[in-house]
Amino acid sequence: MSLDLSLNKILIIDFGSQFTQLIARRIRELGVFSEIVSHKKINNKKIGNSIKGIILSGGPLNVYEIKKYSFDKKIIETGVPVLGICFGHQILSKLNGGRVKQSKHREFGLANIFKKKESPLTKNFFNKKKINKVWMSHADQVYKLPKNFSVIASSQNSKFAIIENKFKKFYGVQFHPEVTHTENGRKLISNFIFLICKIRRNWSSKDQKMKLIKDIKNEVGKNKVICALSGGVDSSVVAQLLNKAIGKKLYCIFVNTGLLRKNEEKQVIETFKKKLKMNLIYVNAEKEFIKKLTYVSDPEKKRKIIGNLFIKIFERYAKKIKDVKFLAQGTLYPDLIESKSVTGSQTSKIKSHHNVGGLPKKMKLKLVEPLRFLFKDEVRKLGLELNLSKEIVSRHPFPGPGLAIRMPGVITREKINILKEADYYFIQALKDNRLYHKIWQAYAALLPVKTVGVMGDNRTYEYICLLRAITSEDGMTADFYEFKKSFTQMISNKIVNSIRGINRVVYDVTSKPPSTIELE
Ligand code: XMP
Repeated sequence: MSLDLSLNKILIIDFGSQFTQLIARRIRELGVFSEIVSHKKINNKKIGNSIKGIILSGGPLNVYEIKKYSFDKKIIETGVPVLGICFGHQILSKLNGGRVKQSKHREFGLANIFKKKESPLTKNFFNKKKINKVWMSHADQVYKLPKNFSVIASSQNSKFAIIENKFKKFYGVQFHPEVTHTENGRKLISNFIFLICKIRRNWSSKDQKMKLIKDIKNEVGKNKVICALSGGVDSSVVAQLLNKAIGKKLYCIFVNTGLLRKNEEKQVIETFKKKLKMNLIYVNAEKEFIKKLTYVSDPEKKRKIIGNLFIKIFERYAKKIKDVKFLAQGTLYPDLIESKSVTGSQTSKIKSHHNVGGLPKKMKLKLVEPLRFLFKDEVRKLGLELNLSKEIVSRHPFPGPGLAIRMPGVITREKINILKEADYYFIQALKDNRLYHKIWQAYAALLPVKTVGVMGDNRTYEYICLLRAITSEDGMTADFYEFKKSFTQMISNKIVNSIRGINRVVYDVTSKPPSTIELE
């Protein structure tokens, strides 16, 4: 591992915690550069002048299982301030003569810590009652205070919840200040980096953009890169980053499956080919997709057919480009965490997700995933920094299989056309009424039943349109959005009056769980 020596930084030594990237994110939010390095790949010789502070992360390890990790004490004896978090706190304690053992009372979740004394680490951290709620997640704990350390705060079960050796600038916290559940956790991290490490702000969205572009250039050199562009936020930001880094060596393949939203293909071509001047290969595969999907109503079959055909077409065009070495993907950090199954638990398969860029393994291309350490909101900010429009970076998510999974039952061209119109009116109404950005995801679906209605003096027998609008943090759980009656009335009238084929509109009021966001 070679560290970037050009910038002052906080070094995060990773012991395998789920939250390590969250620590880095908090430091980025404070405008400071940080770098993560595995505990297996660091030694004291790598602690150069640019490192102004060290954070030891949490992790699933036990400090006495020394065969499972290697950590040289010399690393923390370079005179640089150190903050140990959870496991990091335990190892810091052990290396300084403290003792750690399995706790009788394991602490998982929220706990109260009580202030014992002042410290620069906790300046303006404690609330008026001097009792803060913090997020704990540990089975082991420090039970003998290390030499020359004092106690800043305790919890009921952890006597040494925050400790310090002021002289050496060593600090340990048993809880996780990086997670949002910890009250004023950000303040504690900010105190460590600014008051104790005395590092200056040196990191902005612009710096991040420049670094990512530089890293891509180093990674791919003069080779060709392909990228599956869907017009969604992540693939758009990846494409634009690569466009800035390697220009015409990037080939974006945009497949029109015939299951896109109204005018979507025009918008993607307009933005990426005309405005941003990218090498965009537009593949109109509408006919191929619709043909394969005729008479298919099983949701999993639909997903598989779409996923497989997408890959076939993608590969076909990638071959035509020739000598491609890399495939760029918009993988984000939460995607990595989920696919790694950090907890090791077996989760049951609910749906076969089709992520456009994710699948052509047999093409033997190297992956370029420049967003792999970022969170969705950071990607959106980066998109703006890259001059992508607000409209692109704040779009609601749209699934790979597109309208196919918003149309339970068999897929016909007639149904696709009806649905495209309904969805267009709904989304447009949300934008016109300034509701679009209050909602995490919204769409219209077409239910495979016809019901009776009356229009003028005539009987109608047409489809039901279902509207869904949800609020969510990350799509894992969701709640339905509560519209005012005037809005639901207006949009229902608009859809029924403007679109032939729909005579009834219903609103989905289920949360996730028990429902999912999409219908299939
Ligand atoms: P569910 O329906 O599982 O959806 O609650 C959660 C989020 O994932 C999106 N979604 C997909 N995204 N390929 C994607 O790229 C897919 O196959 C897919 N299926 C669902 C869904 O729109 C929501 O944002």
